[in-house]
Amino acid sequence: MKVNGRHYRTIWTTTDGQVEVIDQTRLPFRFETVRLTTLVEAAHAIRTMVVRGAPLVGATGAYGLALALRADPTDGALDTAYQRLLATRPTAVNLRWALDRIRATVRHERTGRRAETAWVEAAAICDAEVQACHQIGQLGLAILRAVLAPNRVLNVITHCNAGWLACVDWGTALAPVYLAHDSGIPVHVWVGETRPRNQGASLTAFELGGHGVPHTVIADNAAGHLMRTGQVDLCLVGSDRVAANGDAANKIGTYPLALAARDNAIPFHVAVPSSSIDWRTPSGAQVPIEERSPAEVTMMTGRLPDGTLATVEISAPGSAAVNPAFDVTPAHLITGIITERGICPASAAGLRSLFPDESRKAPE
Ligand code: MRU
Repeated sequence: MKVNGRHYRTIWTTTDGQVEVIDQTRLPFRFETVRLTTLVEAAHAIRTMVVRGAPLVGATGAYGLALALRADPTDGALDTAYQRLLATRPTAVNLRWALDRIRATVRHERTGRRAETAWVEAAAICDAEVQACHQIGQLGLAILRAVLAPNRVLNVITHCNAGWLACVDWGTALAPVYLAHDSGIPVHVWVGETRPRNQGASLTAFELGGHGVPHTVIADNAAGHLMRTGQVDLCLVGSDRVAANGDAANKIGTYPLALAARDNAIPFHVAVPSSSIDWRTPSGAQVPIEERSPAEVTMMTGRLPDGTLATVEISAPGSAAVNPAFDVTPAHLITGIITERGICPASAAGLRSLFPDESRKAPE
């Protein structure tokens, strides 16, 4: 997608063989890019959320492994780097998926060729994710068209950031929105700010604004009211891990959104590339939920009137805080899962119908 008229992916390689990413901790106020030259730098970028969003975390993990192999292509270094990257963030299954894919590709390669092979495979992962997101966009567009009423604006609500910044390009939940906007459908997006890190207010609003899509930032707890007063036609979110039974883990606050949608008979769709489907995890109950620092709840970062970025305390000093970063929306609250292969019910049978080969890995 474009930033200031120039096309960017969220991760790319330079002509001198380095990896670069957009520093998402600086958005929306500063657009800065960062070079990742080592395994340590790649792991740090994922852990500190310089890069974030399930498909992008996977893509960065893939390049992290390639960078590690460049420094040391032995089996021991491969396994150490794999474990180090896997430990950075636990919930998005895309990370394990991408690391597994790179490791399996290089495992039987002679050491002298491993780094180059991993590099090519990481690029292939990125290209495939872009294509998958574009297909999700086209398939999801049909849902938007079906919900659109004549002579009315279509009001979509989303949570966190499941746009191009979370992926390599296009996005998952936002891909259909971009294609709808581009095809002339009058679409407006309610953007939940997404406490505590505010990925909605900072990243989703930045993206939608950059593409000219009408949108309005809301406090997360305004969503139920908007639904109840008829101001939302459709919920579209991404997921960091869809379990084999269709339960979907996504940014904390997604589950209450789904509950409110059900109570108000509003369709609730989850958009994911197949790299976010975890065939080995039977249900959402087994998805590891990342616990982040309580400081993300008690402190907030923003821009001061003089333009400087500052972090301020917002809680009563001394109060305890907890910070689960994801929740699980049970399959029965999900209207449909949009993947690059098609749209299916959120169920084991639904997922199996689209991915008969992959689903053989699912527990019976
Ligand atoms: O903690 P984050 O910002 O990495 O969380 C991201 C999300 O929850 C997204 O909704 C999810 O990765 C799906 S994005 C395609």
